[in-house]
Amino acid sequence: MVVKVAINGYGTIGKSVADAVTLQDDMKIVGVSKTRPTFEAQIANSKGFPLYVLAGNEKKFESAGIKIKGTIDDMFKEAEIVVDCTPGDFGDQEKANYTKANLKAIFQGGEDHELTGTSFNALANYKEAWGKQFVRVVSCNTSGLIRTLFPLDRDIGIERVNAVMIRRAVDPRDSKKGPVNAIKPVLEIPSHHGPDVQTVMHNLKISTMAVAVPTTLMHVHSVIVDLKKEVKKEDVLKIWESTPRVMLIDGAKGLPSTAEVMEYARDLGHTRGDFNSIIVWRDGMNVVGKTLYYYQAIHQESDVIPENIDCIRSMMKTEADNTKSIQKTEKTMGIK
Ligand SMILES: NC(=O)c1ccc[n+]([C@@H]2O[C@H](COP(=O)([O-])OP(=O)(O)OC[C@H]3O[C@@H](n4cnc5c(N)ncnc54)[C@H](OP(=O)(O)O)[C@@H]3O)[C@@H](O)[C@H]2O)c1
Repeated sequence: MVVKVAINGYGTIGKSVADAVTLQDDMKIVGVSKTRPTFEAQIANSKGFPLYVLAGNEKKFESAGIKIKGTIDDMFKEAEIVVDCTPGDFGDQEKANYTKANLKAIFQGGEDHELTGTSFNALANYKEAWGKQFVRVVSCNTSGLIRTLFPLDRDIGIERVNAVMIRRAVDPRDSKKGPVNAIKPVLEIPSHHGPDVQTVMHNLKISTMAVAVPTTLMHVHSVIVDLKKEVKKEDVLKIWESTPRVMLIDGAKGLPSTAEVMEYARDLGHTRGDFNSIIVWRDGMNVVGKTLYYYQAIHQESDVIPENIDCIRSMMKTEADNTKSIQKTEKTMGIK
């Protein structure tokens, strides 16, 4: 079975999900959507993705010399599942459209959990999305926390987590937002990230705070975990070494910050300079008694992409085993 996938919102996340879908042999892109005739619409044309646009905007695309297949409603008729990559908070409106078109849909982390009632991470709760009509892939920060915390909770047991998210100000493509010369604490305490992790790891005790800083590259998390038993540093590293989509690196080997980590991604030849895996500094972690301390870096634009692919398989019931889906996605996307 080849699942017909539409991407509603061909922006930062939508472009990468579209590329990841084309790498799979069990799904294909039947359309991508745009509201404005920007360079990305041209790229969709050049990649051969059928382009659909917001009704009423057709002429703008035609006069810009961009080929379109129809309106977004037309795209829905071609698809079995939509990956909604519209900007955050469009969810209610788009969910009504998908319901009307009798389509399944995946939403992104800019939407609230309540929109779908099911939030997703491939390793932690693949089966919760099984056959569902609406599921949300959790945000980049939440995906990052779950990737490293889930295996620790499964294999050692977690008493409690305290974490601080040091967030990039904006994505590299964005020239409108900031801060440019400020460090901006998120004054809502605890931040929403902890409760968001609990939408997937339902019983985890976790509190989070967040600070936005003037960088575009990655987020960094500073995490303190009270474990249920004493373990050695090596025990934790061994767990992460065998965890998909977690990569251990050494600051001492020329990777002391997110700048070098992003350069490493480019040198490895990763598409768009992405790092789909969560980066954990081997020499930046320690265990004292039952308490684990570590730093991790999250490439916000790309860590959620493989999760969307696995989510499609669970919702469409095309692969029952999450390990097989994860491995297939990693092989096709070249994730190590
Ligand atoms: N960027 C990240 O780092 C990141 C990470 C994880 C999760 N997310 C989440 O992913 C979602 C998408 O974020 P993004 O960063 O990819 O946004 P983005 O780069 O701004 O892209 C949004 C896309 O949606 C299109 N769009 C706008 N209004 C639309 C409408 N009414 N109908 C259909 N398409 C519409 C835009 O097209 P036009 O340009 O033609 O208007 C654009 O292509 C959000 O929920 C966000 O929170 C983002």
